[in-house]
Order: sequence, then structure tokens, then C-alpha cells
Amino acid sequence: MCGIVGFVGSEQAAPILLDGLRRLEYRGYDSSGIAVCGDCELRVKKVRGRLDVLSELTHQGADLPGTLGIGHTRWATHGEPNDVNAHPHVSSSGRIAVVHNGIIENYMELKNQLIQKGYTFRSETDTEVVAQLLDYYYDQCGDFFEAVMCMLNAVDGAYALGIVCADYPDRMYAARKDAPLLLGYGEGGNYIASDVTALIRYTRDIAYMDDGELAILSAGGIRIYDRQMRPVEKEHHHVDWEIDAAEKGGYAHFMLKEIMEQPRAIRDATAARIQNGRVVFSDLNMTPEQIRAIGKIYIVACGSSYHVGVVGKYNLERMLRRNVEVCLASEFRYSDPIVGEGDLVIVISQSGETLDTMAALREAKKRGARILSIVNVVGSSIARESDDVLYTWAGPEIAVATTKAYSTQMALLNLLGVYFGDIMGTVDYETYTDMVRGIQALPEQMEEILLRREEIHTLAQECAHHEDVFFIGRNLDYALSLEGSLKLKEISYIHSEAYASGELKHGTISLIEDGTLVIALSLYDPLFDKAMSNVVEVQARGARVLALTIDRRAAAMAERVPMVLPIPETEPMLQPQLGVVPLQLLAYYIALERGCDIDKPRNLAKSVTVE
Ligand code: G6P
Repeated sequence: MCGIVGFVGSEQAAPILLDGLRRLEYRGYDSSGIAVCGDCELRVKKVRGRLDVLSELTHQGADLPGTLGIGHTRWATHGEPNDVNAHPHVSSSGRIAVVHNGIIENYMELKNQLIQKGYTFRSETDTEVVAQLLDYYYDQCGDFFEAVMCMLNAVDGAYALGIVCADYPDRMYAARKDAPLLLGYGEGGNYIASDVTALIRYTRDIAYMDDGELAILSAGGIRIYDRQMRPVEKEHHHVDWEIDAAEKGGYAHFMLKEIMEQPRAIRDATAARIQNGRVVFSDLNMTPEQIRAIGKIYIVACGSSYHVGVVGKYNLERMLRRNVEVCLASEFRYSDPIVGEGDLVIVISQSGETLDTMAALREAKKRGARILSIVNVVGSSIARESDDVLYTWAGPEIAVATTKAYSTQMALLNLLGVYFGDIMGTVDYETYTDMVRGIQALPEQMEEILLRREEIHTLAQECAHHEDVFFIGRNLDYALSLEGSLKLKEISYIHSEAYASGELKHGTISLIEDGTLVIALSLYDPLFDKAMSNVVEVQARGARVLALTIDRRAAAMAERVPMVLPIPETEPMLQPQLGVVPLQLLAYYIALERGCDIDKPRNLAKSVTVE
């Protein structure tokens, strides 16, 4: 997965491209490059490393004059991250440059055909094939538009493409299939980008490209065609995110900013959906009859979104009194799932672009299931292919490690449970009102925890030297420990694992030795005593325990455990909503103590649009 940006207009392109790429770095950051057309000449600079390296190399873009250009920030799929494999890729004639996000699946076959025709390849990438194919077809027919169409007919796979040709210094071509790409309509020119965050400094007037579409952008306008080359009129969207929302706003890292934004994000996600104490989903198209008729329920997602699903399984089963299957999207898609008409598949995704999740959605849809997605990015692929979309309204999330998206996804799943349970007649009045009141009180309770972040920082300092950490918990505490453990390992590189406490004795306990750090979650109050006995069990093997519990239990826990982190109490089903905040902060501060690159952890990317 990579970030793409492009500009054509009356201003210098290079500074706009570099600025846009900076905002897209979360999509990939192992190398970057730009190509700019000026005076009928194509100039390209690309380099391994972070964007700063490219900025310096080009003297902040000054070395590449011209008002048409494309840029790319890469997350390697084909070929190691290096200067040659970095995008843009240029054709043999040196006149055509291409940036690409996605994978050209038949690139080997096309590459061999082109080699036989005398083309030589410099990189190991699939993308270079696109540049060379364009060169070949352009040579054959002499018309660049036709060459682009022939190339699109020849390639299979997923792509968002930005293309420029030195012979046409006033236009840019863009094409999309199964990878995000949007068009920006500006005053002084027009834009393409993988994500709206790259453009909001320049324009808020955007349109989302659909699969199979080709766009031709010039300073004066954008023409769009469908697969049959019929002109398409696109719906324009106005982006009302504040620029600030896509920047750090005074915090040292996006991750901390996004952790701190959670009370606001939960309020935004839930307030409009609770009216006079009742849950209202005006964005849900399902009728009460359809809700009552739901057969099986699946929750499908990846990463932290999957962890939300694990919490959701416990809560939905409790509220709806029916089985809920939670599946990793990458497993679901190849499992020949038993899902069909009448079943509901809840798809959870922050980006709305995760390829495995998208593929699972399509598989379920093909089999006749109804798709309800919980998504953050408006207009994303998953949102557009779902029957119903509940947007989390968390705003842009830039740090690779998700925080506010996780929290808002969970809040919506809880609200959905209450709403469905009421209609299905499985949630009684008391649970309904307790849950609704509990959800309304979450922002304030989260704020209380956030105010105590220095306390968590101090605990983090005491824990930062450990190299192996075990998170343990039962029931909802187990579901939450999965996320706590992932947060810690992904940003601090500490080896960490999450276990259902009751399962420890079946093997894992042999790994507990003198000084091993165990983070014991004891937030789910109905099982407090069980949690306590597991704490004692690991302490007996020498573990150093940090316990997370509710305020009311803090004193009892402190009798046994030296490090106790108490948090406010809420409805047991909502407790993970509060419990995740100290776990995020703990991971953040531990990573800070260890000097890690918190917003851009090694080997990871925010939006995973490859299998
Ligand atoms: C990546 C991110 C995770 C995220 C997962 C699923 O691995 O680093 O934070 O949970 O993808 O992404 P999605 O956008 O579908 O929620």
C-alpha cells in the first residue's frame, strides 16, 4: 500500500506534491519520489528513506520546475525498498512516468512479452510494466489516450494509477481499480490523491473515483470515463475536516493526539445516535422486520478492528442471545464460509480499504448475506460496497497504531447491540437504559483517565526495560488484552502476548519466570475473584504483575499486587471502552521510553491494501 498525489494547474507542482506526500506518509514510508513535467521535459527524483530525504534532495522541490506532477510514498510489495524500486517509474523512452498503489497480478507475463520486444527493465517492481506498456502502445498508435486505454485493458490486478507524459505537459491521467483514489477540484488546478488528507490544504471539493474509471485532469477541469469510455458525471463531496485535524495540534505524536481525542470522538460517534434516551440509527436502512429476521451474525475484520469484533462477540451474544462468529478477514475469505441470504455480516474497518476485509465482504455478499459496515473513512471502498454503513466519525487517524478508531468502532457496535436487542426483544428496559447512560458517560470518564496520564507514564518507565510481556484476562478482559498486547508490540517492539487467563495453566505458564512482566486485566467485575486467583498463580511463579482494575477494587488488588492502575467503573459490557485508554497510554509511553518511531513503526502501514 502506498500513497499517491498528483497536481496539474498554474502553480509549481513539486512543493504541492511534497506537502501532500507528507500527509500520506502513513500509507508507506520506505521510499518516495516525484516526477514533474516542465518545458516538455520530464524530471524525476526518487529515493529510499523518509520523505525528508526526498525534500532535501530536491531542495524542497525547487530542482523540479513545472506545473504538472505526480508523487508517491511507498510501502514495498514487489522488490526491496531502494532508489530503483521507488516510484515514479519511467518508461524506456524517458517520456512517461507512473505512480501506482496496488499490485499488477499479471506483471510477469507482461514483462516477458515486453522483454521479447526489446524492452529492458530496471526495477523489480510490477509497476514498471505499466510505464513500459504505455511506451509500447504509444509507440504503436501515436495517441496517448488510446495507449492508456490499451494498457488498462492489458493489466490485471489492483491499481490506483497516476500517469504523466512529457508530450502532454498540460494533463494527467488517473485510473482506479480496487485501490483508493480521489479527485480534487481546486481554484488554481486539479488534483489526485489516495486520501483526502493530502488535499485539504488545497481544496475541499472532491469526488471519489470508482473501479474501472479513467480520469483526465487539466488545469481547467477533470473529465471522467467509465470502462466503456462513456463520460461520467461524479457526485462532488465537500470535506469539512479542519486542517488541524490532519496535523499534530501541539502533541509530540499523532498517536498521543489521537488518544487524547477519544472523548470527542466517542461523543461525535454516539451523540447524534442517542435521542431522548433512545438509540436512533437514521443511517441504517434495515427495517425492524429485517432485523428480527436476521439469521447468523458474523463479524469480519483485521488487526485492531478484529479485536473490536472479539469484544463485540461477547456483547452481542449477551444482548441478542444468539451466536455471533468473529472471523479474521484473511481467514474468512478462503474458508468457504457458511453464510447466505438472511445472514448479517458486520464488517469493521477504519480505512475502509483493507484488502482482506474487502475480499471477505465481497465473498459474503456473493453468497447473499447482508453487509453492514462500521467504517471511518467516508466514501471508502468498503463503505461503498456495503448495504448499510455506520460511519464512526472519528476524523482522520494518522498514527499507524489505531486508537480513536478502535474506540469509536466499539461504541457503535455496543449501540448496535442495544438497538438490535431492543427490536429483537432480547434486551430488557434496565439493560437498555444502563447501556445508553453508560455510553453517554464514557467521554467524561475517559477524560478522567487521560488527566492521569503522567501516572501511567511513571508506570511505563518502570516497565519499559522488559523484553517479554504477557497480558492476561478472562471474558471481556481477554478480548481487551488482545488489543493491549498488540498496541504494545506494534509500537515498542517488545515481545508480548495475550492469553485467556484460564488457559495459562495449559502450557503458557511454563514461560513465567522470575521478573516476567504480566499485565493482568481485572476490569470485568463479575469475574474479579477469578482474575485475582490468576494473579496469585503467576505471582507464585515469580511474575511481576501490573494490574488494571476498577476503582472500587483497587484496594483489594493493591493488597496483593505492587503496581495497580485503577480506572472508573461503568457497565461491565462497556468496561473495555475505558480499559483500552490506559493500555494505549502504557504502550505509548513505553515506546517513548525506548526511543521508538511511534507514529511510523517499522514494517507496518496504516492501510493494508495487499493480501
Ligand atoms: C493495519 C493497521 C491496524 C488496523 C488494521 C486493519 O494493520 O496498522 O491498526 O487495525 O490494519 O485496518 P482497518 O483500516 O481495516 O481497520
